Amino acid sequence: MSRDVIVACDFSSREQVLSFLDLFEDEKPFVKIGMELFYGAGPDIVREIKARGHRIFLDLKLHDIPNTVKKAMHVLSSLDVDMVNLHAAGTTAMMQAALEGLTREDGTRPLLIAVTQLTSTDQESMERDLLIKEPIDKVVMHYAETAKNAGLDGVVCSPLEAGKVHEVCGEGFLTVTPGVRFADGDKGDQKRVMTPAEARRIGSDYIVVGRPITAAADPVAAYRRCAAEFLGEGE
Ligand code: C5P
Repeated sequence: MSRDVIVACDFSSREQVLSFLDLFEDEKPFVKIGMELFYGAGPDIVREIKARGHRIFLDLKLHDIPNTVKKAMHVLSSLDVDMVNLHAAGTTAMMQAALEGLTREDGTRPLLIAVTQLTSTDQESMERDLLIKEPIDKVVMHYAETAKNAGLDGVVCSPLEAGKVHEVCGEGFLTVTPGVRFADGDKGDQKRVMTPAEARRIGSDYIVVGRPITAAADPVAAYRRCAAEFLGEGE
């Protein structure tokens, strides 16, 4: 299992993200590109960052009819990204079509990760707007199991859910977890957080870390600290 820190590059322009990545001379962090940067800078930003030697998690959360998602995934796969995601709510047929679209002629493909319930959805809004009456924890685990049965590689979840996801779906099913903060850091708008060391202990496979690194006075030092804590170096 290759555990790693994924740096959420939540910038709005090509110039901003490239000057941030220029700070890293000795390492090539795994980078998350989200909707804002992708829609603003276009697919070329993916090619450019990839050409600099970074692995890329393209966080576009696809959700549409199976045929459309299959074709879109085929395009994303040709960008040579390493990880992409979709909404498990698109159901099994959509997830299986996504896998087909992602798989390259040589049989390789990027990792495919599912979003279960967004963390911005709570029990009340899920019941009221989606008419889902089950407890939200049960819904999240059910979506994770459905994603696993469809052949996906893992889910995005809170580090607080990572242990349970592994219990339900097995140790090999990946947990990609945002909501990570240093013990002495500012929580910002994240409410339920864990430190990198806690995320390691609970079994997160990848942590997604944005502002604690991108907004740090010394982003390279913050990245190194985060990686050392998460990978358990020196313990
Ligand atoms: O800056 P921060 O460390 O909070 O960034 C976390 C990243 O993970 C952001 O890109 C955010 O959109 C993403 N994310 C999250 N919570 C989720 C899913 C994704 O914070 N449930």
